[in-house]
Amino acid sequence: MNLVLLGPPGAGKGTQAKVLNEGLRLPHISTGDILRDSVKKQTKFGLEVKKIMESGALVPDDLINKIIEERLAQPDTENGFILDGFPRTKQQAIKLDEILKKHPAGAIDLVLYFDSTLKVIIERLSGRLVCRNCGANFHIKNVPPKKDRICDFCGGELYQRQDDKEETIKNRIKVYEESISPLIEYYEKQNKIRKINADFSAQEVYKVLMKLFKDEHLL
Ligand code: AP5
Repeated sequence: MNLVLLGPPGAGKGTQAKVLNEGLRLPHISTGDILRDSVKKQTKFGLEVKKIMESGALVPDDLINKIIEERLAQPDTENGFILDGFPRTKQQAIKLDEILKKHPAGAIDLVLYFDSTLKVIIERLSGRLVCRNCGANFHIKNVPPKKDRICDFCGGELYQRQDDKEETIKNRIKVYEESISPLIEYYEKQNKIRKINADFSAQEVYKVLMKLFKDEHLL
């Protein structure tokens, strides 16, 4: 199964992708995670994209497309994958279709559009905590860690993402709103997009996704 998770920042794409990765045994490919890893390692590329990410803008298409092309060339994607945060522009979607023409897993099966209200998005992003070591996601109210600022899974330190500061959140939402319509249109034309109400709890959203996969004969 080849999935794309689309939606505003904080809608819960990463949270669901992690659970789907365990349930479906498909690699979770998050362009945001790949970029943050480059920033953490202070590679030349990481230094180049750091400022862009901190401002909430999009990294240029050619750079992102190259990352995805390399990642999809790895053998763990041969039986399918979960793309989280890619594509984000029509140009990225076109490039993805082009890559998949020669890929053993074939074309995209479904694009899951996580629809969420502004109030919920802001509440989720401003309370998100991420483990510096293993990348696990928490939320100060919705998914609190057992010990303050300590990861339940690996004991790593939990921190607030630089782009989860109030000003950057506003810009990320603006950038999202400016770029999403052509992408939705692109996948509507292919009849691949399915809208999910992402304001429900993580458990409820997961149930909706599982039902959808059964209805679509993907499971
Ligand atoms: P990226 O990392 O992709 O960020 P994003 O799309 O803004 O998405 P988020 O990770 O913020 O949110 P999410 O929907 O995954 O929510 P989550 O599950 O964490 O991108 C970051 C930056 O990288 C971009 O701004 C850009 O600069 C660059 N970039 C990345 N991809 C790019 C591309 N393709 N092109 C160009 N640039 C690119 O949940 C959020 C919080 O809510 C968590 O605390 C979680 O615990 C909680 N939560 C989740 N679900 C629920 C629920 N159902 N109920 C209650 N709480 C919930």
